[in-house]
Amino acid sequence: MLTLNFTKFPLLETERLILREHSLTDAEALYDMRTNETVMKYIDRERPKDLLEIKTFISTFNQGFENGDNLAWVIALKENPNQMIGSIGYWRTDYANHRAEIGYMLHPDYWRKGIISEALKRTIDFGFNDMNLHTIKANINVENDASRQILIKQGFVKEAHFKQDYYFRGKFLDSEIYGLLNPKH
Ligand SMILES: CC(C)(COP(=O)(O)OP(=O)(O)OC[C@H]1O[C@@H](n2cnc3c(N)ncnc32)[C@H](O)[C@@H]1OP(=O)(O)O)[C@@H](O)C(=O)NCCC(=O)NCCS
Repeated sequence: MLTLNFTKFPLLETERLILREHSLTDAEALYDMRTNETVMKYIDRERPKDLLEIKTFISTFNQGFENGDNLAWVIALKENPNQMIGSIGYWRTDYANHRAEIGYMLHPDYWRKGIISEALKRTIDFGFNDMNLHTIKANINVENDASRQILIKQGFVKEAHFKQDYYFRGKFLDSEIYGLLNPKH
């Protein structure tokens, strides 16, 4: 059985990080990241218009957790757990096939310190051992070399390259799909 409807949001810890539930007080930090063109360079999604839209977004994925559709964590440093520095989570859960898509982003002040690698290790472990996922998928913009390198370092393998399968801002973009199999299955 795929388990995504936890009764309590799963708070996770790593050596340096706390992975916690989103709160409306994270709205500004999330808005700053999702409107920062350096962060969003390879994330082909519309930017939020205002803080209200971000607050609705936070409420939607907190409800998504309650419905069992997704599981998204705020990344914070242990020494400052209220300050959101990034996010990581599972989206578009495919229940029938025990498969979910992972996504992540980090504020540029914290890049290249191994933070996403650390968060990814913990959430992959959680995905396989607590959610009972069979496979984890990641979908990247083909130019996102940083994300590609992270996935490869975590053991993901390239599974597909879809040509012009995604329409964004007047263009049809290619997608690269990476996958990781549950080693215990
Ligand atoms: C991609 C991103 C999440 C990386 O986070 P990070 O915490 O800086 O990554 P890490 O420090 O864990 O990096 C692990 C490895 O990934 C690769 N990597 C990370 N950033 C890189 C970059 N800018 N260029 C090339 N390789 C990079 C390196 O191999 C790195 O190992 P190394 O530092 O020992 O060389 C971050 O740059 C980001 O938020 N980018 C914008 C959002 C985004 O593109 N998200 C992914 C959408 S699919």
